[in-house]
Amino acid sequence: MDASDVGNDLENILLTQEQLETRLGEIAAQIDRDYAGKDLLLVGVLKGAIMVMADLARHLHHPVEMDWMAVSSYGSGTKSSGVVRILKDLDTDLSGRNVLVVEDIIDSGLTLSWLLSNLRSRGPASVEIASMLRKPDAAKVDVDVRYLGFDIPNEFVVGYGLDYAEKYRNLPFVGTLAPHVYSS
Ligand code: PRP
Repeated sequence: MDASDVGNDLENILLTQEQLETRLGEIAAQIDRDYAGKDLLLVGVLKGAIMVMADLARHLHHPVEMDWMAVSSYGSGTKSSGVVRILKDLDTDLSGRNVLVVEDIIDSGLTLSWLLSNLRSRGPASVEIASMLRKPDAAKVDVDVRYLGFDIPNEFVVGYGLDYAEKYRNLPFVGTLAPHVYSS
């Protein structure tokens, strides 16, 4: 899927496929160095993280394991309430493991903040975060991100795993949508 497949739904491309790919390669090299000689479990947060998880894992030389969690905000239906429930938990026991949480985006930071304390309570050797995107202007809590792709403006973005109403996840770049998409 590419820009031509979504017609005039697209407003702007913020990060091209090439930019994402290049940055992921740099991050992977850093992870390879930092975890040399250590075990490493990548934990992807569904669904947004599928693309970055798949691409990051393929860039790594390190023989990682991969597991997945699905989480959702409680209550109002609006995300980022900070109260999170687990829809799908890990299959892996985290005792003594080096865990790297892989995310597509940190918006308010509330999801990851909750997730970090949840995972840290399971007795891992370490828990760090890798996120492709972060919106500094949307932060409600500070999240310590060890590996970051890009800081982006506080705009609604889609592509590379990020959706609007479950669509556009399979765009290979990160972009913004035209206003008519939201009003239709
Ligand atoms: C997105 C994203 C993060 C979270 C970030 O997931 O993947 O998990 O929101 O937001 P926060 O920093 O404000 O907490 P979303 O709830 O949209 O689910 P999805 O990954 O299934 O699209």
